[in-house]
Formats: sequence, C-alpha cells, structure tokens
Amino acid sequence: MDRIKIIGGNKLNGIIPISGAKNAALPLMIASLLTDDILTLENLPHLVDVELLIRILGNHGVDYSVNGRRERQDGNYFRTVHFHARHIVNTTAPYDLVAKMRASFWVIGSLLARMGEAEVSLPGGCAIGTRPVDFILDGLRALGTEINIENGYVRAKASKGLLGGQYTFPKVTVGGTHVMLMAASLARGDTVLHNAACEPEIVNLAECLNRMGANITGAGTPKIHISGVSSLSGARIKIIPDRIEIGTYAMAVAMTGGDVMLKGADPQLLDSVLQILRQMGVNIAENADGIRIQHDGNAIEPGDIETRPFPGFPTDLQAQFMGLMTRANGTSHITETIFENRFMHVQELVRLGARISLSGQTAIVEGVARLQGAQVMATDLRASVSLVIAGLSAGGETIINRVYHLDRGFECLEEKLSNCGADIKRVHG
Ligand code: UD1
Repeated sequence: MDRIKIIGGNKLNGIIPISGAKNAALPLMIASLLTDDILTLENLPHLVDVELLIRILGNHGVDYSVNGRRERQDGNYFRTVHFHARHIVNTTAPYDLVAKMRASFWVIGSLLARMGEAEVSLPGGCAIGTRPVDFILDGLRALGTEINIENGYVRAKASKGLLGGQYTFPKVTVGGTHVMLMAASLARGDTVLHNAACEPEIVNLAECLNRMGANITGAGTPKIHISGVSSLSGARIKIIPDRIEIGTYAMAVAMTGGDVMLKGADPQLLDSVLQILRQMGVNIAENADGIRIQHDGNAIEPGDIETRPFPGFPTDLQAQFMGLMTRANGTSHITETIFENRFMHVQELVRLGARISLSGQTAIVEGVARLQGAQVMATDLRASVSLVIAGLSAGGETIINRVYHLDRGFECLEEKLSNCGADIKRVHG
C-alpha cells in the first residue's frame, strides 16, 4: 500500500493551481443521467472518486469521452469530459460500486426522474458518522415516489412519473438538496424546497440544470423553486474551483510559512475561512489570478471555530484547521456540528506531539512550539490531509499510511506541494 513520506520544516513558496471541485464534479456527472444528449464538464479533476463514479455511470449506460491533449493553462490540467446517457440500460446501482462512495447514492434522483424507477444500494463512504439517507428518501416521497428498503437496497418507483411537491429538510443536507434538484427538474408541476443547502456546489449544479433547460430559481438560498419540465437537453459547464483544496493549501502555508499564489482560487467560496485566517495573522491578498497567502512561519494566534453549513466554516476543513491550531500561540476550541464522529485525526495528530483533548463535540487544542515527525494513519479524506499539513511543519520524518484516502479528493497533492519546496514523496508498495 502506498505511503507518503514527508521531511518537515521547509517553507512553501510558489504557485499552486487549484483544481475543479470534487464535490461539484460528482453531482454534475450524475446530472448527465437526466438527458439523452451530451453533458460536457470542463475542469473535471483527476480523482479516484471521479473515476469510480465514471464506472458507476457506465454501468447505467453512460458513455464518456475525454478531449485530447490541451495546453496546460496556469499549470492546471483542465480536463474536459463529455458524458452521454443516450440510453439508460440499467436502473440498478449495485452494492460493490455504491459502497465505496456515498455520493453515488445520489443517482437515485436522476434515475427516478428519467426512468420512473431506481434500485440503489444503501451507501458507504468515509467513516465519519452514520450518515443516513432518510431525508433524501422523504424528499423523494414528497414527489410521489414509492419507496421500499429490502436486502440493503432502496427500491424507488414513480410509475406515473414524479410530481412536484413541497419539502422541508429537517436538517441542511448537501446531498439531499442535489438529489431533489435533479429529481424535481423533470417532475410534473412545481416543487419548493425549504431549508435547502446553500453551498456553492449547489449553485453550480442548478446553473448546469438551467443550461440543460430546467427552471430553477433561488439556488444558493434556503428556499429553492423548481418548475418541472418534460425533458432536458445537453449543456456545457465549468466546474467551480475546489474551496476545500484552497482552504487546505492556505492553512498549509499558514503552518509552514512562505508565500504561495493559489491560482484560480475564488475568495467568495470560503469567506468565513479566509476571515479567520486573517484574524490569526495570515496575510491574504486577492487578485484576478487567485489568492496569495503569505506568512512568516512564526506561531499564529489561536482561534475558536464551529463547523456550519455554508456560508459557515466547512466541516471538510475542520481537520486541517485542527492541524494548524496544534502549533498556535495558545488554546483553540474546535466544535464539529455536522458529523458526529469526525475527530479520528485527533489521535494521529497527538502522535505528532499535538496536545488535544475532546469534550463531546469540541476539541480543545493547546498549541505547542514544535511537532515531531512520526508514523501516522490516514483515516478519512480530510483527516489525511490534516496529517500532511502537520507533517510539513513537524521536525524530521513523517510517514502517512493508507494514503488512498488522499487520492479520493486531492489532485496531484505531492506534485503541487513539492513544486513549492516541500520535501514530500509517495513511497509505492
Ligand atoms: C457533502 C459533501 C461532504 C461534506 C458534507 C457536509 C459531497 C460529495 N460531499 O456530503 O464532503 O462533508 O456535504 O458539508 O459533496 N443527513 C441525514 N439524513 C440524510 C442526509 C443527511 O441525517 O438523509 C445528515 C448527515 O448525517 C450529516 C448532515 O445531515 O450529519 C449533513 O450531511 P450532508 O450535507 O447530506 O452530507 P453529504 O451530502 O453526504
């Protein structure tokens, strides 16, 4: 199994191109099931989760083709991919594919909308809590779907097609909002979603669906109105920059010190995060090229955060922020409100010399002057990258085991960091 070896202590200096957002790419790819025409996605990142979803979609009959070699723009790969679901040949998403990635469950909404039926295995994904799908199923029921759960599969049927309806999410859910947007776009009549997720990835999907001929207003606010249409056409859309990648590299520079241009980064995608980094003494400048992060490498100020749905502090940056706070000049409090079991990185950060204690959903992090390299284990996608950040600033050698989690969500991580002076290598085997 591959491992990552880091010799900490180097400052980061240079340019990091920001990739297309994984969390926008996945629902946009699933939207291709809604039309028999071609959906073209620009800036699709090379990630294990994307490749896995290509396989899942392929199983339903979706062809995909990739544009030939292009000049690299701004050092980025800019992969343009065409998805074509001319005929859906299969409405079942089997366990062995869906269990590997939770977001693949979202095909349920598009398959139902287009075919009137879907059979989808209950999902797996990161081990960060129970992550049920009850709101997704209740939402689909509100559009006239009959749902049965048998042998680990959700069997969903809308024999006469989906019907517009009202649904209020009991808790903000990104996946639930994606599924309902896709399903309601092809339902008969109007749908209103209340307490919808406002994440930029939702706005990216709604924009794509509107280009395909849907009629959606209010995406990016908690109340979304969808007037169903009878069919959708092909479209072309660019995937937004990955705000989690932006925040991760910004925190890496805050930790090691240095001067890095995050090329293609859009500050509006993570205002709450940039604000807090500024308060801690990190220099952040925004211009047309992206966001420039500068820090002298001295200990930064501590800070308290609570994860919240957008525009609040994202749960997907909580682990990285904790990594950063391990070397702050004082004590920080980090409260996780989205997922109940998202502190698995704590014990690994402690192996590097961090001082962290847990009290319910809050981690209390006492900054230390130095971290020391050690062997650590990646436990989930975002937790693993917090260990990378910590390893970059620790003294000596850090070895991160089980790095396949990183490949699910970070494109060319070692290359991007080593181009900026980090001593980081993948060790195969
Ligand atoms: C998405 C993101 C993930 C991010 C999360 C929260 C993708 C591919 N993944 O995950 O990176 O961490 O948003 O920003 O975009 N819930 C229920 N019932 C449901 C659905 C959700 O109880 O039917 C709960 C979840 O357990 C969790 C909360 O709602 O506590 C939010 O989860 P949700 O927003 O749905 O996360 P995902 O869409 O799976």
